[in-house]
Amino acid sequence: MRNSPASRNDCDPIEFASRDEIAALQLERLQWSLEHAYDNVPHYRKAFEEVGFSPGDLTELADLAKLPFTAKADLRENYPFGMFAVPREQVVRIHASSGTTGKPTVVGYTQRDVDMWADVCARSIRAAGGKPGDIVHCGFGYGLFTGGLGLHYGAEKLGCTVIPVSGGLTERQVLLIRDFKPAIIMVTPSYLFAIADEFERQGLDPRESSLRIGIFGAEPWTESMRTEIEQRFDLDAIDVYGLSEVIGPGVSAECIETKDGLHIWEDHFYPEVVDPETGEVLPDGEKGELVFTSLTKEAFPVVRYRTRDLTRLLPGTARTMRRMEKVTGRSDDMIILRGVNVFPTQIEEILLEDERISAHYVLELRDEGPMNALSAIVEARPDSAGDEIRAAAASEIGNRIKGRMGVSIEVKVVEPGAVERSQGKAVRVIDLRAKD
Ligand code: DLL
Repeated sequence: MRNSPASRNDCDPIEFASRDEIAALQLERLQWSLEHAYDNVPHYRKAFEEVGFSPGDLTELADLAKLPFTAKADLRENYPFGMFAVPREQVVRIHASSGTTGKPTVVGYTQRDVDMWADVCARSIRAAGGKPGDIVHCGFGYGLFTGGLGLHYGAEKLGCTVIPVSGGLTERQVLLIRDFKPAIIMVTPSYLFAIADEFERQGLDPRESSLRIGIFGAEPWTESMRTEIEQRFDLDAIDVYGLSEVIGPGVSAECIETKDGLHIWEDHFYPEVVDPETGEVLPDGEKGELVFTSLTKEAFPVVRYRTRDLTRLLPGTARTMRRMEKVTGRSDDMIILRGVNVFPTQIEEILLEDERISAHYVLELRDEGPMNALSAIVEARPDSAGDEIRAAAASEIGNRIKGRMGVSIEVKVVEPGAVERSQGKAVRVIDLRAKD
């Protein structure tokens, strides 16, 4: 750890409250939130009635499991504003996430929702080691995407000086980092590598930059990626998680003193982990799909929203609130290769162990008769760009993947600069299979 953690006196008291206090607050807020959803959103009223549940029936937190899940399809069916629980005039902000198909998912915020969001983002930046007065370079996209505006308001609330750079124009990102000397950068981990390359292209050493803390999220990134980032920039790399439907960034965040998974801000977002197949609630410690119920949101309450993100719940460490293990995949990212379940992040872990390989990669999924076939296309580092080194690296990494994961994957090690750079969320899997 290169930076000191926040002092307890600077944190919100609830971050260190006892489990009993947290549970009591959650129960009171959950009762309010279910009633609010039932009274104001026809979709929820119908869903509750279908299982014979009225909000007054919730007497303990576990009763929540009696309610049905909410899925992305429910939001789409009520496009654009049908899931709002307040009159449209009270909605001060709209965000949307572009689905891979069809219409975007639209979410709304009242002024109180925006304030709560700023609070949880400020808490997240503070947990990451940010302090009032720090200069923050915000490279997350501004616009319908929640990343830029969400963390921007959080950094302001914490008392930081925010530079709203957004994504893209990588040369200018480097110029602004050199000249404004931010202590903190917030960006997708994949885009940070594009910024690092641009530093080096200009003959600058990223380790010499003013950056001390990096707050990364919006896409999965592995422990190997953390090691690589911390080494390349000489900073503390911290994970922040969230999704538009639940609020945006700031649902959970890592603490700099432990970097051991993300503390969920459980006073606002109630987590469950369920078996993705059966929907049964799993005990803490077991891996499954993360589900959230909002406890305080006014404009867009969510009840048992299925995130598709796979993780497990763990007890608190640096804070009393529970942690979620770093999300390394979504149930819809899983690729089945000759009967073996493969997540892109498992391949990333193996790729990044190799000194000859950079962090820029994509996976191409193709048909091979009735089966799937996968190729990993990964860039060599500039000092390993020769043909022979690349060929040797490709064959050794292919063997390592086969040995560890039990599947054959074609590995192509290409020249530096050959893999397209992301400016926000990286697209890691390119699906080239014929559509039915
Ligand atoms: O990505 C919100 C966000 C912005 C989070 C900036 C962190 C930083 P969506 O566009 O709705 O919202 O996408 C949400 O992105 O369900 C996860 O699959 C993935 N995701 C977000 N953060 C992480 C993370 C924003 N730290 C979806 N690790 C989520 C892994 C993440 N996956």
